[in-house]
Amino acid sequence: MNVINNIRQVRSWHTVNRGARCVFVPTMGALHEGHAALIRAAREIAGSNGNVVVSIFVNPLQFGPGEDLEKYPRSLVEDLSLCRDNGTDMIFAPKAEELYPADRSIVMRESSLSQMLCGASRPGHFDGVCTVVAKLFNLVQCDDAVFGKKDFQQLAIIRRLVRDLDFNVVLHAIDTVREPDGLAMSSRNRYLTPEERAQAPALHAALKLARDTWKNDGERDPAALVNLIKKHLQQHAPLGRVDYVSAVDAVTLQPVSATTELVVVAAAVFFGGARLIDNIELK
Ligand code: PAF
Repeated sequence: MNVINNIRQVRSWHTVNRGARCVFVPTMGALHEGHAALIRAAREIAGSNGNVVVSIFVNPLQFGPGEDLEKYPRSLVEDLSLCRDNGTDMIFAPKAEELYPADRSIVMRESSLSQMLCGASRPGHFDGVCTVVAKLFNLVQCDDAVFGKKDFQQLAIIRRLVRDLDFNVVLHAIDTVREPDGLAMSSRNRYLTPEERAQAPALHAALKLARDTWKNDGERDPAALVNLIKKHLQQHAPLGRVDYVSAVDAVTLQPVSATTELVVVAAAVFFGGARLIDNIELK
């Protein structure tokens, strides 16, 4: 496994490996079983002749003022062994100065899908994500890229980025990996106190309750489903503070007036300083 931290070496790695299918997993490190599943999926897609590339980069552009950039967990040594154990060929782990010249003056701006859900409470976040993903796609020159469905809005925006800017990259979406009690795996779970950790699975339970009510009891009113989720959270996660709960169209991310097709119910809840997100498809 090659570990590379500068642009020049990525370019020469790419020259040497030209012709082999390249499957890319962008991450911010602090890797867990959810990332391992993405890397294993990438390995499958790449096959034995292809290459799996993982980037590890805590992207300052996607953190707002007062967010957790400084304290975002960093665990490079453990990350490298998780990557190796799951079949990574190359890791790109640059420093911020390597990717962002001090006098940089060009960034991406997404003006539609980033305005709601997480984007409403994290202005500029998805512009930062689009900027770094576009840069990484240019550098890694991948054929395929693998993203998790937990970050459902991010996935929708990256699909749009690929479409609107004509990146020749096939995107693959991988199911959320959960702890045994249902909590979606996230690098931010480690911020939770034991009391918060005990209540956090209520987020997934509430979304499942809404999905089951939709599926088994025929409830189609999005407002009723959202209320059900909020009520469940009030009862089972009193330490949580709801940021949003919303039933949206899976492609446009616009709130729906009826939950008939391709609807995702997405939610974000603060537990102390940690903001946890999760979602469920109505199907
Ligand atoms: O999902 C993440 O970890 C990040 O947003 C990404 C896609 C690696 C961009 O920094």
